[in-house]
Amino acid sequence: MSSASAVLKRQSSDFRASQQSAPSRIVVQPVTPVIGAEISNVDLRKPIDAETAAEIQAALHKWRVVFFRDQDISNDQLKAFGRAFGPLTPAHPISDGLEEHPEIWERKVAEYRTRRTDNDASVPRARPPRDYKGWHIDITFVANPNRYSILHGVEIPPYGGDTLFTNLIAAYEGLSPPIQKLIDGLQAVHQTTSYDAGERKPRRDGRSTGPFVSLHPLVRVHPETGEKLVFLNPGTVSHIVGLKERESQALLDLLYGEITRPEYQARLRWAPNSLVVWDNQAVAHAGPIDYAHFSLGRTVRRITVAGDLPTGPDGFRSRALEGELFNVLG
Ligand SMILES: [Fe+2]
Repeated sequence: MSSASAVLKRQSSDFRASQQSAPSRIVVQPVTPVIGAEISNVDLRKPIDAETAAEIQAALHKWRVVFFRDQDISNDQLKAFGRAFGPLTPAHPISDGLEEHPEIWERKVAEYRTRRTDNDASVPRARPPRDYKGWHIDITFVANPNRYSILHGVEIPPYGGDTLFTNLIAAYEGLSPPIQKLIDGLQAVHQTTSYDAGERKPRRDGRSTGPFVSLHPLVRVHPETGEKLVFLNPGTVSHIVGLKERESQALLDLLYGEITRPEYQARLRWAPNSLVVWDNQAVAHAGPIDYAHFSLGRTVRRITVAGDLPTGPDGFRSRALEGELFNVLG
């Protein structure tokens, strides 16, 4: 036997051995070169082992948002999946979760229709944050926003209700070095809006529902990958600290235009039992983007994996200016 065929034979038997002994691995199919991947060959009705969780996490850190299909899971299975990545928070700082599942935030489309539109100037607001067509990072009005968000499609209409995601790391890397340098040392104030802050009674667990105001670095260092990102939440940022109002507004407008460039985006077309995990430390999202235009039923359930205080390139750590840190349930 030639040495080449011996090697081939050995490789082939190694391959068969690995096929027999290794559990089936997830399959990761990117949906754009910049953001988003679909993950298959995993059944989330069953507990996932540490190795599978690590593979999903690696895909998440590479692609920023990952989509799963046909995951007909219960509320308990949804929570078990989330806990594979760390302790869970309650459903939301200013809203209660499901009575039996305080970690799960259920959203029905009718609730979205009550939201203001970006053209609605009729609601008086003391310090209006910018409402850029629904783009936001989850719950940055608290100083410790969640690390990952996980959303399960329960009732999904045949069309409409898509969710958009944008890569905030790509947005930072696309800026010119002088602008990167300018924003590296800045901080922004994030706060609950008048929409959030209506008539709020305490949560079922007795905790205050705000108002919340927090100071965050405008550029965040991703705690797992070390990459820098534009930590701009159009939905909650009122202003950049230390700048004149026109300077703050102009810089926010510039950055908003950058983070919402189409080439940094992926779009999820939902189907029943689609499930999405996004790295809330790396993306902003908007959705359902067309809720004002359709009347079909849509129900999704969200859980959130607890996060740390964001850190800037200069070591600045986020802090609460008003309201408590978001608590953790485990
Ligand atoms: Fe959100």
